Amino acid sequence: MTDQLIPGRRAFPADDPIFALNTEAQARRATGESILNATVGALLDDSGQLVVLDAVMDLWRELTALEIAPYAPIAGDPLFLKALVRRHWPRLDAAGAACTTPGGSGALALSLRNFLEQGQRVLTTAPFWGPYATLAAENGMSLATAPWPRAGEPLDTGAWEAALRTLMRDQGRVLLWLNDPCHNPTGRSLSSSDRASLLTLVREVAALGPITLLLDFAYLDYTREPEAVAAALGEYAALGAEGSVLVGACLSLSKSMTLYGGRCGALAFPWCEDPALQAALTQSCRGTWSNCAKAPQALLLRLERDGKAQARLAGEHRHWSDVLGARAAALDEALAAEGMKALRWTGGFFVCVPAADPEAACVRMKEDGVFTVPLPEGLRVGLCGMRASDAPRLAQALRRVVAVS
Ligand SMILES: Cc1ncc(COP(=O)(O)O)c(C=O)c1O
Repeated sequence: MTDQLIPGRRAFPADDPIFALNTEAQARRATGESILNATVGALLDDSGQLVVLDAVMDLWRELTALEIAPYAPIAGDPLFLKALVRRHWPRLDAAGAACTTPGGSGALALSLRNFLEQGQRVLTTAPFWGPYATLAAENGMSLATAPWPRAGEPLDTGAWEAALRTLMRDQGRVLLWLNDPCHNPTGRSLSSSDRASLLTLVREVAALGPITLLLDFAYLDYTREPEAVAAALGEYAALGAEGSVLVGACLSLSKSMTLYGGRCGALAFPWCEDPALQAALTQSCRGTWSNCAKAPQALLLRLERDGKAQARLAGEHRHWSDVLGARAAALDEALAAEGMKALRWTGGFFVCVPAADPEAACVRMKEDGVFTVPLPEGLRVGLCGMRASDAPRLAQALRRVVAVS
């Protein structure tokens, strides 16, 4: 044991559990075994290669030395922030209080430090993207959850109201991380009526104290229903414009541009011009990573000026959304053939199969050579890393374990 390590930092697992599962899957595949690895969290084509968007890579190759080498401004390039916000809300003409961050993860981390005190709880959905809990723990905080609706079921507004009111009563403030539309890991967005109910509750509780609604937009470009995504953005914009709730977005180039390793994103509050909020964000940037990589910011500015590249990128997003949609449809069909419920994917990289004992189910499926990620609510299946033709094998393995677990 390293004495220098302070006691509270000595008992972490050596490897992230998802990466550990992936390593195990790859090791078994290397011995010649037929492995279905649905743990992967990046988009792969049907031959298992990482998808890298051509429109983005062509722009990347055009970047000049001065678009790569200099420091970017501490809070990020204001033109980049405006361009990124306008990708989501084209009618806005300013980013509001905003800063560039290393991916959506950086934006989430900064939101904790600026909107909650140590020891408080951030509200999110169950299930949620696992690192949400790690981000909270690293900042001396924890998560509170309220349920994401199951496929075909409405939002449990009672549970959401209780969660919002309890946190407001206990903390005097609420930070809500909402990964909608295109939720990870369920692969479903809120229905318009569920969203309206939730926003009504948020408005009501905002009368009792400050609420920050941070929308996590990691997967918006990969959807079966782009019109519904656009409508959702409009509903959130309307709430933001009202001003009673601080509405912000956690934006990322990781999936949208397949620039996972470029580590770029933003935390933006487009309807807030408060200089104190901007100053707090800038201070957090300076005190955490100083400033972010310049190249991805420069790339987005090139994209903004290049209509042809935008059209090409939109075509690529459509293509890969169709591929994900075909994988999801094949899985639903295979589940139906096994007598199981459809998952009804509408967007994002994942779906989640409800299971009573997900840890045990995951272990049993590994015996069949099928790898999924156990979450408290079920098994996460990465549509992004599987082929449609894998669906029958996956569904059979799922039925065997979900029925018995
Ligand atoms: C729901 C969700 N939010 C945020 C992120 C953050 O990703 P990044 O930090 O690469 O932008 C991810 C990545 O998988 C995610 O799934």
